[in-house]
Amino acid sequence: MAKQVKSRQRVADHGEVFTAEREVNAMLNMVKPETERVDSRFLEPACGDGNFLSEILRRKLEAAKKRAIPPRRKKPLPLEFEKQSVIAVASIYGVDLLIDNVITCRNRLYEIWDKEYTEICKKEVNEDCQEAVRFILSRNIVCGNALSMKEVDENGNDTAEPIVFSEWAFVTGNNMQRKDYRFDKLLAGEYEPDPGAKKKKRKSVENEVGQMNLLDFLPEEKPSDEGEFLTSYIANYRRVQDHGE
Ligand SMILES: C[S@@+](CC[C@H](N)C(=O)[O-])C[C@H]1O[C@@H](n2cnc3c(N)ncnc32)[C@H](O)[C@@H]1O
Repeated sequence: MAKQVKSRQRVADHGEVFTAEREVNAMLNMVKPETERVDSRFLEPACGDGNFLSEILRRKLEAAKKRAIPPRRKKPLPLEFEKQSVIAVASIYGVDLLIDNVITCRNRLYEIWDKEYTEICKKEVNEDCQEAVRFILSRNIVCGNALSMKEVDENGNDTAEPIVFSEWAFVTGNNMQRKDYRFDKLLAGEYEPDPGAKKKKRKSVENEVGQMNLLDFLPEEKPSDEGEFLTSYIANYRRVQDHGE
């Protein structure tokens, strides 16, 4: 079993106690259908080294495999799996105060994704796509303070920079759109969907599972005011790393 405590000092300073696999699974099973949907969005505001997010990604990748199997076939189509698996990674978000946890979390998620990807895509593995997934993880797993909603420095102290999350979505063919939103404004409900689109009204799923909030926090359609998000980029999904930092 993985260690639940790294040091007494870290427990005292940051309440750092990692959750064991059995509890992770039991808690995720409380929202099982969401964990098995490729594009459901999860945010863990104190993600540690990614115990919850890793299991969520494993479940999503299983769903991605199923979605990539065409009718009357048994195996997933590599290219289709590649796209589905990028959606799976891109819908997972985390914040942690401690940079070592953030780096471990990003690496764990990358390795889980890459293992499935190379197993399924074999000779069709694409280095640009691997780089794109690393880039997405570098944006989605943020070193920050989930209470002040600011980024933090290497000592865990708040900076002036607000936490920004990217929404990733396929728009046309292989093009993926990235839109950046400030975390504080998202939580304040300042990014409202088009009020006319009643049935698509903002889904406010706030399932509190112990210390973890699972928020499906972005509107499913465009915000009514195009100027509200900070930036928007469109690129081939294998080249999202070419735009912005
Ligand atoms: C109890 S651990 C849980 C880690 C992980 N969620 C798990 O269950 O294995 C709490 C984590 O929250 C982080 N943390 C504490 N205060 C935080 C804050 N204000 N913002 C973001 N992360 C915070 C700590 O660094 C630690 O990694």
